[in-house]
Amino acid sequence: MKDVAQKAGVGLGTVSRVLNKSGYVSEEAQQKVWEAVKQLRYVPNGVAQSMVTKHSYTLGVVLPDFTNPFFPGLARGIENEARKHGYTIIMIDTDWQEHNESQAIDTLRQRSIDGALLVASANALSFVHRLCEAKIPVVLLDRGVEDLDAISQVTVDHYKGACKAMAWAYEKGYTRVGFLSGPAKVSSANLRLRGYLDAIGRGDVAVDEIEQHPELPVVRADFSFEKGRQATEELLRTHPDVTCIFAANDLSALGALSYLTARGIAVPDDIAIIGFDDILMATLVHPSLTTIRQPTYEMGTLAARLLLQQLADPRSKPEKHILEPTLIVRQTC
Ligand code: RIB
Repeated sequence: MKDVAQKAGVGLGTVSRVLNKSGYVSEEAQQKVWEAVKQLRYVPNGVAQSMVTKHSYTLGVVLPDFTNPFFPGLARGIENEARKHGYTIIMIDTDWQEHNESQAIDTLRQRSIDGALLVASANALSFVHRLCEAKIPVVLLDRGVEDLDAISQVTVDHYKGACKAMAWAYEKGYTRVGFLSGPAKVSSANLRLRGYLDAIGRGDVAVDEIEQHPELPVVRADFSFEKGRQATEELLRTHPDVTCIFAANDLSALGALSYLTARGIAVPDDIAIIGFDDILMATLVHPSLTTIRQPTYEMGTLAARLLLQQLADPRSKPEKHILEPTLIVRQTC
């Protein structure tokens, strides 16, 4: 900064105000500073800058699984919106582990981020409380928390998406539909299981009691490809009359497809499959996957916009957005 000040012929304070966009500086002085910055190829020290402005212009993004193509799509929406407003993002993958989420909060606090976007695994509420205690503004996305009006949330209507998938299966004439469920205690997974159970007329079964109902064609696959394969094997062994499999996400649906085609079971002629997410791979496999599309990119940009709005005006009211899922019919059902 001293070199810039000397070259521009202004004081250090002027350079600081220009770089941190804080306080009045004449047009002429601003031009001199930016010209000196360009000639010296000066890059401000972000950490030092944040100590002056109390803003790091950095957002923290906490996701459970970078290996699942759904999340990079979400992150892309966040990143593009953040960049438009001069922010960068720090992304942390918690690998579905709650203790990693706890470490993630410590990391975000140390990096003095301005705000956080969180896709929580199971206990979103305690995560949110930790961030609020740390006075880090947070927006929840993808997995909402019921009755939490203090912060903004952006999710898709998981329940409605499951109902749309089941309505399509019935419309296609399938009457014995099995379900590959997602991780226990994850709100997106539970809402889809709720939609499935209501569609098969078992509104009496609570989602957290599903393990007590082996008579129902439901096997946990935890949103995973490999567990989707294993769960399909178990589902067909315990419920051989299943003619359609609805999976709680695309990766586990692709696991089911892999298992069935490896055993020469024709999809959809012998057994149909419906997924949930509409990741790119859904169109790349053969037969291509019928699924429920989430507006993933839009979810990311909207969540980032809500957080930036809150940073600009801390008095702005939190908003809850539940976006519309869409049935995408391809070849597996
Ligand atoms: O595929 C991962 C799943 O976890 C997606 O359906 C998304 O909604 C998230 O909850």
